[in-house]
Amino acid sequence: MDLEKRFILALDQGTTSSRAILFDSGQRIVSVAQRDFAQHYPREGWVEHDPMEIYSTQAGMMAEAVTKSGIDPRKIAAIGVTNQRETAIVWERATGRPVYPAIVWQCRRTAAICDRLKAEGAGEMIRKKTGLLIDAYFSATKIRWILDEVPGAQQRAERGELLFGTVDSWLIWKLTGGAAHVTDPTNASRTMLYNIHTLDWDQELLDLLSIPRAMLPEVRSSSEIYGYTDLCGVRVPIAGIAGDQQAALFGQCCFERGEAKNTYGTGCFLLMNMGETPCESRNGLITTVAVSRGGRIQYALEGSVFVGGAVVQWLRDELRLISDSAEIGPLARTVEDTGGVYLVPAFTGLGAPHWDMYARGCVMGLTRGTTRAHLARAAEESIAYQVAELVGAMERDTGTALKTLNADGGASRDGFLMQFQADILGRPVRRPAILETTALGAALLAGLAVGVWDSTEQIRRGRGQGALFSPEMPPQQRERLLAGWSRAVGHSRGWAGP
Ligand code: G3P
Repeated sequence: MDLEKRFILALDQGTTSSRAILFDSGQRIVSVAQRDFAQHYPREGWVEHDPMEIYSTQAGMMAEAVTKSGIDPRKIAAIGVTNQRETAIVWERATGRPVYPAIVWQCRRTAAICDRLKAEGAGEMIRKKTGLLIDAYFSATKIRWILDEVPGAQQRAERGELLFGTVDSWLIWKLTGGAAHVTDPTNASRTMLYNIHTLDWDQELLDLLSIPRAMLPEVRSSSEIYGYTDLCGVRVPIAGIAGDQQAALFGQCCFERGEAKNTYGTGCFLLMNMGETPCESRNGLITTVAVSRGGRIQYALEGSVFVGGAVVQWLRDELRLISDSAEIGPLARTVEDTGGVYLVPAFTGLGAPHWDMYARGCVMGLTRGTTRAHLARAAEESIAYQVAELVGAMERDTGTALKTLNADGGASRDGFLMQFQADILGRPVRRPAILETTALGAALLAGLAVGVWDSTEQIRRGRGQGALFSPEMPPQQRERLLAGWSRAVGHSRGWAGP
């Protein structure tokens, strides 16, 4: 029997769904399993997930992807994990029971803790050590909130009874039956507790927020064996970890300095590989770890937009303007423009480059003639405007113009959006043949660790061609539209402020 191990399973635990994708050694998708899970919004600006549901849906999808493929699980060489980043989970070491729901990256509940840190003048020290700016987005203040609000949690954490993890740590701890409490630098660098220069948890930051070091996972590289799990009765190594945006950067083959991608998921995340030297942003971007592999570390410059594809879900689920996300592009195309309407989807504040925790969404320019098609188009365009702002900031930081934007993620399927993105940027957008670059990135990291692939050169050689969208919009029109967007953003700023 041929039991050559040439398949890799990627677990892609995202903000709205748990997915598992099986790849073969030719980087082709063999099977996909996906399940959405519940989003909880207990108060204005709060977002929570149930950690047990994250785990059960992910474990279910893992088995389903293997069963669907018909592949003998003994042929699966390794599992790679990629995840929604920053989301904080605290659980009991002895029982594995979470002490509180997962506080999701989008959640704004810790804005007051952030304001306090800013008032204490911690901003510069935090930026220097972590590459981040103070914002409720990152994990640290979410952990502080749980330790403050769950009775006895601080004391229990100090006694070593409670563990913290981002979603990668939580899943791997569960999958290995509590044997591995680990993370990697791409995830650690999103906590606001990790020093991206010393590559360790930072004691000054831990003291600042009174977070006991004993809670934190061990930080390992992004590509090595961390432990084993039972996959349909077979013991399989877990051998890759990366936060989903860094996994997509790797999956897009952005292995060298200056290579960049933008993922159109729940949010939009533009990352540029900066090589082995971290680059400080002066234009509202953050510095983060891109990957850690074979004793080498690479950094990235990142622009994070909180609501990207999620604006389409909002039109579908909350406004009920469409019944399926795929309707949005065709509906937007039925009108030539938005009729002057701008929709700023600052539902959870604004991320890069504005960083305004108190911004909220707004629709500007409504007239008696505004139709649902205009609103749909304004929602689509809002995604592209936000990405254009990120590209502008990145170009100012690096002093180089991005020649082509590499796109991926679910919403990049939408041809209308890709064309408008190229138009508003005034340069081409390239969409790869495989859009599942996040899962692929995690699979590649795991496969490199166990020898399914030998090198990144081999991986790059194995890539097919994608689609190219070229800009068609006249420059004056582009400038007029961008100016209107800036005015609309101005109206959303500070809306929910103290
Ligand atoms: O930083 C948040 C990010 O990791 C979420 O990614 O794909 O769930 O939008 P996604």
